[in-house]
Amino acid sequence: MFIAVEGIDGSGKSTTIREIKRYLESKGEAVYLTAEPTTLATGKIVRNFLSETNSDTPLIHEMLALSFAADRINHLREEIWPALRKKQTVITDRYFFSSIAYQSLNVSYEWVKGINRFATLPDVLVFIDVSIDKAVERLTKFRASTEIYEKRELLQQIDRNYREVIKEFEGNLKVIYLNGNLDIDKIYGDVEEKFSPLFADKK
Ligand code: ADP
Ligand code: TYD
Repeated sequence: MFIAVEGIDGSGKSTTIREIKRYLESKGEAVYLTAEPTTLATGKIVRNFLSETNSDTPLIHEMLALSFAADRINHLREEIWPALRKKQTVITDRYFFSSIAYQSLNVSYEWVKGINRFATLPDVLVFIDVSIDKAVERLTKFRASTEIYEKRELLQQIDRNYREVIKEFEGNLKVIYLNGNLDIDKIYGDVEEKFSPLFADKK
């Protein structure tokens, strides 16, 4: 099973993914956890572009979008497809839905979709549905440095883009909405409730 987890910055994505992993392992799944941008050489290029302070190249948004796509094809070939072949359950923290939601702030939605056409659809898309207020509260409370996308108005637009891209792909994959406004100790229960139908026909 191939699962992509998406949400705006401050949605509590990493925290939620830990709980999803714990739940899937309790169901006997062998979980392979991974993320984009990756830790591969292509991921380093992306992170360099993303950092406001460390980048030595002026940001060209098309270049950034292409870098994310290059990192993604590398990710699929080096990590995701091999793990799926080994029957592992892959959870990726972000996938091409992130590219559409974030990069289409600056370049056309259709163009970003086009350069990601190679990316095979996951079986399940998990969207962490969080209020903008909660996300901003977490980002200002817990983060020392900010990345280029962590600004309120941008988060709002990214959230709208996410909902648009999800609507577009909804017919082709299973979408699970998790409540991103919950306290940490309530996340596992939400995961259990929303994921259990996936295991209903297995024992
Ligand atoms: P993301 O991956 O979306 O950037 P993280 O899971 O790393 O978010 O969480 C960012 C910060 O917010 C962390 O310090 C974490 O402890 C806190 N946090 C995450 N989820 C919650 C939650 N549901 N309630 C309260 N605080 C949270
Ligand atoms: P991430 O590592 O999830 O953020 P953090 O570690 O700060 O929680 O992602 C880094 C940033 O990259 C985040 O702002 C979202 C952005 N991003 C894109 O713009 N496009 C993409 O295709 C991906 C995968 C991430």
